Amino acid sequence: MCKSIDQIEDYKLSNQGKNAEASIAQSLTSLLFYNSMKTKITSPYAKITAARLASIALICAGALSGLFTEAKATPAETSADCPLHIGRPGYHRRFDDAEKWVKKFDDPARLIWQKPEDVIEALKIQAGDKVADVGAGTGYFSLRIAKDYPSVTVYAADIEPSMIAYLKKQAKAKALPNHKALKIDAHRATLPEVDLVLVVDTYHHIDNRISYFADLKKRLSPKGRVAIIDFTAESPEGPPPEHRLKKESVVVEMNKAGYSLDQDLALLPYQYFLIFK
Ligand SMILES: C[S@@+](CC[C@H](N)C(=O)[O-])C[C@H]1O[C@@H](n2cnc3c(N)ncnc32)[C@H](O)[C@@H]1O
Repeated sequence: MCKSIDQIEDYKLSNQGKNAEASIAQSLTSLLFYNSMKTKITSPYAKITAARLASIALICAGALSGLFTEAKATPAETSADCPLHIGRPGYHRRFDDAEKWVKKFDDPARLIWQKPEDVIEALKIQAGDKVADVGAGTGYFSLRIAKDYPSVTVYAADIEPSMIAYLKKQAKAKALPNHKALKIDAHRATLPEVDLVLVVDTYHHIDNRISYFADLKKRLSPKGRVAIIDFTAESPEGPPPEHRLKKESVVVEMNKAGYSLDQDLALLPYQYFLIFK
């Protein structure tokens, strides 16, 4: 469903021309009808002419109102016609084979556009912080953060048991006791209190995002922030275009969930990087 006020406003704007044409047509038919009534009925011939003019005017009015019914229709409600996709369900696909996905997620070529160390620096994590990586996958960010900040506890949260098993193995192999893998529910991030939640390429997979993030807000410390990184429509990487969410949609949804945008970082070539408070 189209739920965004902006979308409805856009729709109205694009239909302003049609509505103007409809009202001009209505004025013309009214004028025609008025003139036909004004005709002096002094002879049988004139009576017939007046009656004809009146009928023509009525027929025109009916036809024109039918013609312009479309212009008065309510905004389209299919997602294809709703460019902002506010409240659209998440993109459901399984990530149930960590060994397969690690080849893609940890592909060295990703370093060029994902810039993990620049992202981590921009997050301004403080010593002693608690950080959750929601949709951690193979730990692309969570393992790096745990390594860079030994005093920080990192909860690598994911819904896939295979990812959780992989994350546990990696933390052990890399001797990172501050990295904790956490199996969470797809509809509720059951986290301990944290100072920062990082959501990379995962926001578009989540259903009912407004209630999901409103609930997650209860798990943030007073200085808590949520950083969302996801693919733009133009990116050559990322999910199929119909599953991408515009940056504006994320901002609208997060506002509805009780957050305000703190930073909009133009750091990554293929993704937006937003930090909410
Ligand atoms: C595209 S991967 C991104 C992984 C990682 N953040 C990265 O940047 O490499 C998306 C991950 O989100 C997880 N995921 C999907 N839906 C989720 C949800 N509702 N809550 C938490 N994680 C979810 C998937 O299992 C998968 O591991």
